[in-house]
Amino acid sequence: MQAVIAFDVYGTLIDTQGVIAELERRLTQPEKATEFARRWRDKQLEYSFRHGLMGHYLPFSECTREALVFTDRALQTGLSDNDHDHLMAVYAELPAFPDVVPALDTLRDAGMRCVAFSNGTRQAVETLLERANVLHHMDDVISVDDVKRFKPDPAVYAYLRTRLEARPEATWLISSNPFDVIGATHAGLRSAWIRRSSEAPFDPWGIEPDMTVPELETLAERLLR
Ligand code: LAC
Repeated sequence: MQAVIAFDVYGTLIDTQGVIAELERRLTQPEKATEFARRWRDKQLEYSFRHGLMGHYLPFSECTREALVFTDRALQTGLSDNDHDHLMAVYAELPAFPDVVPALDTLRDAGMRCVAFSNGTRQAVETLLERANVLHHMDDVISVDDVKRFKPDPAVYAYLRTRLEARPEATWLISSNPFDVIGATHAGLRSAWIRRSSEAPFDPWGIEPDMTVPELETLAERLLR
C-alpha cells in the first residue's frame, strides 16, 4: 500500500517567522520584532494546549489573536487595535518555505497522497495555502476543527487516520513541531521531524520520530528510497 503523508502547516509548510518584517515596520522598537514573533508563536501554541485541556475549544485563529494581544501586553509594545488587525491579516498571508512545492510534486509524482493536517480551520488553511501557491500541490486539507480538539490530543490523530483510511504504519505525520511529532508517534503513526534549524532541540521524552531531516526535499528523497 502506498504511504499517505500528512503535513503540519504552521512552521512546517508555512514560515511563521514571515511576520518579522511587518513587526519591524509597526513596532516603535523594531529591535523587538524577532522576540515578539517568537513569543507570539509560543503563546499561540500554549493557548491551544490550555484551551484544549480546559475543554474550551475555539478556532485556532482566535488562539493566534489572543496570543498577539498578550505578547503586545507582555512586551509593552503599545500596538493599536488596527495594528493587531493588520498583523492578523499578515499572518493569513505568510509565505511557504521554498522546499515545499518541489517536495510535494516529487512525492505526488511517485504516487503518494499528500494532505495538510492542521490546528487551523479548513477554510483558514485553504486560504493560507492558496495564497502561498501550495494548495493545488496538495490532495486535501484536514483540520482538527472537525473534532474540536487541538494537537496533540490523541483524538486528532485518530481522526486523521479515519479520514485517510490508511493503515497506521503507512500514515506519516511530517512536522517541524516536536510536540506534534511526539503526539503522532504516540498515537501509532509514522513520523518525521523537519529540523529546519540545526539548533532546534527535541523533547527528551523517549518518543522519537522515524526520521529527522533538515527540510522537505530530503524527506521526499528518503521516503522514496
Ligand atoms: C498546525 C500548527 C500546530 O499547523 O503548526 O497544526
